[in-house]
Amino acid sequence: MACRCCMDKIVVEGGHRLQGEVRISGAKNAALPMLVASLLADGWSSFQNVPDLKDIESIKLLLENLGAKVESDSHQVRIDGGGLCNHEASYDLVRKMRASILVLGPLVARLKRARVSLPGGCAIGERPINLHLKGLQQLGAEIQIDHGYVEARAERLRGADICLDMPTVTGTENLMMAAVLAEGVTVLRNVAREPEVVALADTLNRMGASIQGAGASAMTICGVKSLHPVSVSVIPDRIEAGTFMVAAALTQGDVTVCGCEPEHMQAFLHKLRQTNARVQEDRSSIRVVGPETIASVDVKTLPFPGFPTDMQAQFMVLMSIASGLSIISETVFENRFIHVGELRRMGADIQISGNSALIKGASMLSGAPVMATDLRASASLILAGLVAQGVTEVNRVYHLDRGYEKIEEKFASLGAVIRRVPV
Ligand code: UD1
Repeated sequence: MACRCCMDKIVVEGGHRLQGEVRISGAKNAALPMLVASLLADGWSSFQNVPDLKDIESIKLLLENLGAKVESDSHQVRIDGGGLCNHEASYDLVRKMRASILVLGPLVARLKRARVSLPGGCAIGERPINLHLKGLQQLGAEIQIDHGYVEARAERLRGADICLDMPTVTGTENLMMAAVLAEGVTVLRNVAREPEVVALADTLNRMGASIQGAGASAMTICGVKSLHPVSVSVIPDRIEAGTFMVAAALTQGDVTVCGCEPEHMQAFLHKLRQTNARVQEDRSSIRVVGPETIASVDVKTLPFPGFPTDMQAQFMVLMSIASGLSIISETVFENRFIHVGELRRMGADIQISGNSALIKGASMLSGAPVMATDLRASASLILAGLVAQGVTEVNRVYHLDRGYEKIEEKFASLGAVIRRVPV
C-alpha cells in the first residue's frame, strides 16, 4: 500500500510570472547507477550531490538488503560494498523502482550469481530487459526466468563483442558494471550515449576500471581483477533543469537555472530557442526569458544527443499554449502520452495518432483536479497548473517525489503560488 505522503496533493494557482534563480539538484538517473557501482568494491565509497528523492531511498534500501553498509548525511551518501553477501533482489524492493535491475550486473560479477525480480511493465510501456539479459549471456552468464525472477549465474564472466539492438540506458550501464570485472576485453556497440552513462564510466574508471569510449556509440572495456572505493560528485539533473526552463517560457518569466551543464541539454535548448524564448547560456547556468507569443515547434524524441523523452510531456504543455500547430513524436517509448488525457481536461487541444501528438495551441488552459501515473507526466501537470486559469490540484504526488527534489519549494521561491496538501 502507498504511504500517506504518497497520496499528498500539490495545489497550484495559475497565472503568476516566475522570476529569479533556482539551483538544480544532482541527477537521479546518474546517482542510481553510481550508487550501485559501489557494490563492485570493498570499502567506503562516497557520493556527493546525491538528490534527496524517493528513488534514492529505494536504491539505498536495496543495497543494504544485499549486504552493503549505507550511511547518509544530507546530500552525501557513503556505501561500503564489502559486505555484499545476498544475491537476491526481491519483488518488494524491485517493484518500487525499475532501475533496481541495475544490481544484476554487479551481483553476477561479484557473487557469481544473482536472483533479481523482473521489473515488469509500467505506465509508459512494456519496458523489457531482454537486452540486459542477452548481453549478460554473451558475457558468459547462464540466464533463467523462474517464478517472475531472473536467475543469472557465471563462474567467471568473459569479455565479448556485444552489439545492442537498441541503445538502452540502464542496459548499457548494467553491462558496463558486469564487464569491468570480466576476464578480457568487452566491446559494447550501439550503446547509450547519455551523460548519465558517461558519469557512470567516469566513476568506474576512478575505481580502477578501464573503460574507453563512453559518450560515443561504442565502448571498450578491459576487465580488471578488482576495483577500489571512490569519492565522486553526481552530475546535475538535466531533466529537472529543463523542467524549470519550460516553466520560465510558459509564464513569460525570467529564470536563471544555476548549477546545470548546458552541454548536456543542447537538443532541448535548440528547440526552446525556436519557441522564441530567450536562452542565455553561461558555463554552469542558463537564463531563460519567456516570449510574449510562444512559437509552435515540432519535436521528435530520440536517444541522446537527441531530444530527451523525459522532456516530452513538459514540452507538450508549452506547445499547448503556443501560437499554432505542432507535432510531437515519441520514438523511445511506445505509450508515453498518458498525460494527454489530463492535459485535455485542462483545455489542451491534442490529438494522438500512433506515436505522434498533434497539438493545436490554445490561448488558455483552465485549472482542474488531475492525476498522473508517471514521473514526467506529473511534472507536466504542475507546469500546466502554473499557466492555467484558476487552481489545479495534482493528485498522488508519489511519482513526483521519486524524481524532483522539493519541487514545490523551488517553484514557490520563483514566485509560483503552490503548496503541498497532506492527505
Ligand atoms: C532510462 C531512464 C529513463 C529514460 C530512459 C530513456 C534511468 C533510471 N531511467 O530508462 O528516465 O526515460 O532511459 O532515455 O536511467 N528496451 C528494450 N529492451 C531492453 C531495454 C530497453 O527493448 O532490454 C527498449 C525500451 O522498451 C525503450 C528503449 O529501449 O523503448 C529505451 O529504454 P531504456 O533506455 O532501456 O530506458 P531505461 O534505461 O529503462
